[in-house]
Amino acid sequence: MPPNRNKQQQEAMTTSASFEVEVIPGLEGISQQELQRALGRRVVVEPILHEGLLPIRYTGDPAALLDLATVLAVYERHYYAIPRPKALLGQAAFDQLLGAIAAVRALHPRDAFQTFRISAAGEESSVLVRLREQLAANTGLEYTAEEGDLLLRMRRPLDRVEGWEVLIRVSPRPLSARSWRVCNLAGALNASVAHTMALLTQPNPDDVVLNLACGSATLLIERLLAAPARIAVGCDRDRQALACAQENVAASGADSIRLEQWDAGALPTPDAWVDVLLADLPFGQLVGSHEANKVLYPRVLREAARVTVGGGLFAAITQDIRLWERLVADSAADWTLRTTLPIKLPFKGGHLRPRIYLLERKG
Ligand SMILES: C[S@@+](CC[C@H](N)C(=O)[O-])C[C@H]1O[C@@H](n2cnc3c(N)ncnc32)[C@H](O)[C@@H]1O
Repeated sequence: MPPNRNKQQQEAMTTSASFEVEVIPGLEGISQQELQRALGRRVVVEPILHEGLLPIRYTGDPAALLDLATVLAVYERHYYAIPRPKALLGQAAFDQLLGAIAAVRALHPRDAFQTFRISAAGEESSVLVRLREQLAANTGLEYTAEEGDLLLRMRRPLDRVEGWEVLIRVSPRPLSARSWRVCNLAGALNASVAHTMALLTQPNPDDVVLNLACGSATLLIERLLAAPARIAVGCDRDRQALACAQENVAASGADSIRLEQWDAGALPTPDAWVDVLLADLPFGQLVGSHEANKVLYPRVLREAARVTVGGGLFAAITQDIRLWERLVADSAADWTLRTTLPIKLPFKGGHLRPRIYLLERKG
């Protein structure tokens, strides 16, 4: 914990402050559970006014919010009773804003923030240009129109008709951008989603975990961040994906992970060997094709049933929904469908709409 906090910042830890937790739409309930598990009675989740945005009041050290694993980002929320953004340039409001920025920077090492960005309607208006000039001059941070370390969002409050809000992201990158991800594989799974899938399998240190079609190992690494495992294996048939996985695994420090070049539809493992299966299957768009999935998915489901112990859990995600759901229904002798979670995954300025499935092996 950086020791550069002033008295005012320390006092703030004993009074409740307002934050907004940005989550994957569809995972609001899961992230709410994580907040409550991690922060207990120090956190109060307020009514949700917009999908994917959890307004909370929190009393305590904001550094604890940096450990949330199922969320995308956390913002400190500051309300200004001002008629228009220009009033933020007034001395009192501007000083308050500088104090809030200093408090966020104090959560991190001194050089964690080099750049900043303001996200707001009319970003190029003369008022916002003046505001960013003033902020640059007073914080020593450099303005960038790209993804800045310090992100400020300005908007009308969601719950009031008057005033303005400034939201300050409490981390230099989104929390879902993990430091272990040193190799970026096209089509890699969002780490917050991967963490959620790992949690759905009720992680236990005794688990034998197999990540089918592991790609860059996102699911496996997040599973081991949730809890240790007795055995953790990732398999993919693509050598390059496995090399990428190897780099990420090394960066994560999870030295117990084994990576294998196996076909997920023809595994060399014994029957009933696995307690937990994880799979981010080719969606059939960026990775693979619907035609290829028509061959791959039934092979994977059959092989998964063979290698999984009775009562074992299989968390899978795909966007090839109709195909997967028909195959799961056809495999009712092997699998019970426990949960289906439709989510909206940010992708290239729009969204993908995959679903997470939790299956339980019968028998
Ligand atoms: C959506 S990607 C997985 C991405 C991964 N979750 C990540 O975060 O990097 C799907 C993966 O399935 C792999 N794959 C496709 N068919 C396979 C098969 N028959 N056996 C094993 N892996 C396969 C591809 O090589 C690809 O890496």
